[in-house]
Amino acid sequence: MAAIISGKEVSAKVREQVREECESLKAKGVTPGLAVIIVGDDPASRVYVNNKKKACAEVGFVSEEYALPAETTQEELLKLIEELNGRADINGILCQLPLPRHLDEKAVINAISPLKDVDAFHPSNVGRIMIGDYHFLPCTPAGVMELMHHAGIDAAGKSCVVIGRSNIVGKPMAMLLLHENGTVTICHSRTKNLKEICSNADILVAAVGKAKFVKADMVKEGAVVLDVGINRDENGKLCGDVDFDEVEPKASYITPVPGGVGPMTIAMLMKNTLMAAKIQNGL
Ligand code: GUN
Repeated sequence: MAAIISGKEVSAKVREQVREECESLKAKGVTPGLAVIIVGDDPASRVYVNNKKKACAEVGFVSEEYALPAETTQEELLKLIEELNGRADINGILCQLPLPRHLDEKAVINAISPLKDVDAFHPSNVGRIMIGDYHFLPCTPAGVMELMHHAGIDAAGKSCVVIGRSNIVGKPMAMLLLHENGTVTICHSRTKNLKEICSNADILVAAVGKAKFVKADMVKEGAVVLDVGINRDENGKLCGDVDFDEVEPKASYITPVPGGVGPMTIAMLMKNTLMAAKIQNGL
């Protein structure tokens, strides 16, 4: 039976630390500010953005929401980002992805000042992560690492397998595990012997985006299983990329969905925004 790593618990601790640090920043006259841009009316994005705003209020940040219509042009969006880049009271800028298809996601990410890029999606921040010299870590992979640290799991020398190679999760996840001396394999849709590779992993991170994709026969006895997925199952119930009921008895540690990696993403966003405010104010 696995120990359950509670993202609910760990994220509350991180947010509390941020709240305390925010208070001392405020005593120095600095209130961290986050601008959240959402274009269109994707329901999942709406939920994420609401949660991000709520978290800001809880830790004492100011947040501004820019809810733009789906027809917003590239020029309008870039103009807004330019304005926010220039504002001293806005320390972090986040444009919720995915964007409507007519907008150029890459150009939008490139337009955000790297010093305000609290998602760590800008190529300059991605490059900094690659060489291990960074201010911001991408929120979801950083949240996974925080969960591992909290549970006392050390990646050093372990076989770490990441399923998924997205720019937002899979690739940076692999890099963070490598920074902590894991022996890292990235698997993806073209991987031939997926089951064999996964079932040799000491630490398995599932970031595929497919409900209950990871089954018991893909998991080694005693493995640490970290589930980044947020999906709906056949009954419309929230579930991860891991078939929790099948895998849990085999794992040593496992993260649940909901209440695992999900709440960590927002907690790490708060951490990044605090860091942005500190850097921009020379603190
Ligand atoms: N869409 C899904 N995850 C994320 C995230 O972490 N940041 C942004 N900006 N958009 C997302």
